[in-house]
Amino acid sequence: MQSASNENYIDNLRREKSVGMQETGFNRSNLSVSTDRYTSKEYAEREREMIWMKTWQAAGREDEIPNAGDWKEYRIYDQSFLLARGSDGKIRGFVNACTHRGNVLCTEKKGNNARFTCPYHLWSFNLEGNLVGVGRPDLVGPIDKSEHGLVQISVDSMGGFIFLNPDPNAEPLADYLGEDVVSFLKPYNLDKLSPVMDVRESLECNWKVVVDAFQEGYHIDGVHPELLQVIVIDPFRTRYNFPKYHNLAVAPFDVKHANDTSFGADQEIAAIRALPGTFPGVAAILPAFEQLITPYQQADGSHQFPEGVSGRSLLQQATRATLTASGLDVSGLTDDQMSDNHGYLLFPNFFMTVRAGECHIILPTPHPDGDPNRCIWHVTSYMWLPPGAEAFRAELVEVEEPGSYPYFLALQQDYEQMPRQQKGLRNSLLKKLTLAQEEVCVAHFHSVVDQFMAGQTNS
Ligand code: FES
Ligand SMILES: [Fe+2]
Repeated sequence: MQSASNENYIDNLRREKSVGMQETGFNRSNLSVSTDRYTSKEYAEREREMIWMKTWQAAGREDEIPNAGDWKEYRIYDQSFLLARGSDGKIRGFVNACTHRGNVLCTEKKGNNARFTCPYHLWSFNLEGNLVGVGRPDLVGPIDKSEHGLVQISVDSMGGFIFLNPDPNAEPLADYLGEDVVSFLKPYNLDKLSPVMDVRESLECNWKVVVDAFQEGYHIDGVHPELLQVIVIDPFRTRYNFPKYHNLAVAPFDVKHANDTSFGADQEIAAIRALPGTFPGVAAILPAFEQLITPYQQADGSHQFPEGVSGRSLLQQATRATLTASGLDVSGLTDDQMSDNHGYLLFPNFFMTVRAGECHIILPTPHPDGDPNRCIWHVTSYMWLPPGAEAFRAELVEVEEPGSYPYFLALQQDYEQMPRQQKGLRNSLLKKLTLAQEEVCVAHFHSVVDQFMAGQTNS
């Protein structure tokens, strides 16, 4: 069953705005990327001003600060911001510095209070950022409190994610993301999903090495050979869409190669049964899937699907039925969105793969010390947890000892690969990289980096 908005979605994605690999318009010259962007200190300093001080970036989740007075810190480089929920329920962003003499207001990472009181001379600010009290007013003399509130910055939310933009002239988040991204993501009800994995640690590579690594499937043969069983990188099936600064790649989940006649129902079923290794949310779908394939079982135990039925279509049915029964509204999602891996990069650093009921986010940021050879990577998985399953909500794990966190296999492989690339990139005689056509999203990302670095955007 598909609503009108679903049809629009498919129409936009398939016919008008999305294109196949061959039609993306990228040629050899824009598949070339300079290497100084990964290693040069000067480049990193300019990037800080031209990209990180000017773009909307994911700073947390709304459900991290559910109650009035809840707040959390967001840091980018040495810049510290407070995200606070007011008594009116609204989330606001402030520079974490007192407007008296600049003392840091909050030294913790999160908390709850009705007022922010600066410990230096006891100026206090309410949750709306207004100056509401000063220590020893007799020593302060006349002062117009309404002119000395906290410095406010732009904050907005999308799908339960709080975004922040340090630029005082930031365009609204919805304009920055663009209509397509907002409307594509809305029916997933991302704000209803809960974290089931939340890990952050320092990594020995540039933040763009991380962004690059998650925007292409070309490295599957080399780095994740076991995924070949469940992911087919097919240049004739993957569809691309480049809304504004962002990109979207859809690799239809269909393990059968177009021209592989030896691939039957049992191979398809085996691939779907192996999916939870990559998409853990599928584990909850498998019981319904097993029921749906039962009628197609032959006397010898093998399976055969008639015309019009496939493992993919049954997986879509099972996903819709399971999620609906457990209380998640998926009525706005297309069948494609049930099964296919939709990969989004929201510029600059929000990479997300999303299917109905689950999403996985890779969020690398520059290292606070400014060293371009390092970054902080923040990896989170969100899933639909039916009522009563709150015990599965994950707390943030800050990894101190490199290599000590047990990532799942594919993520561990990427975790080990990325610093190796950075080691190679540090060689100063290597001036440029040459991308493959399959890496068109990487190329698009770097073309947007170039635009921002040249100041050629209206953000
Ligand atoms: S610096 Fe905050 S009260 Fe003086
Ligand atoms: Fe990978």
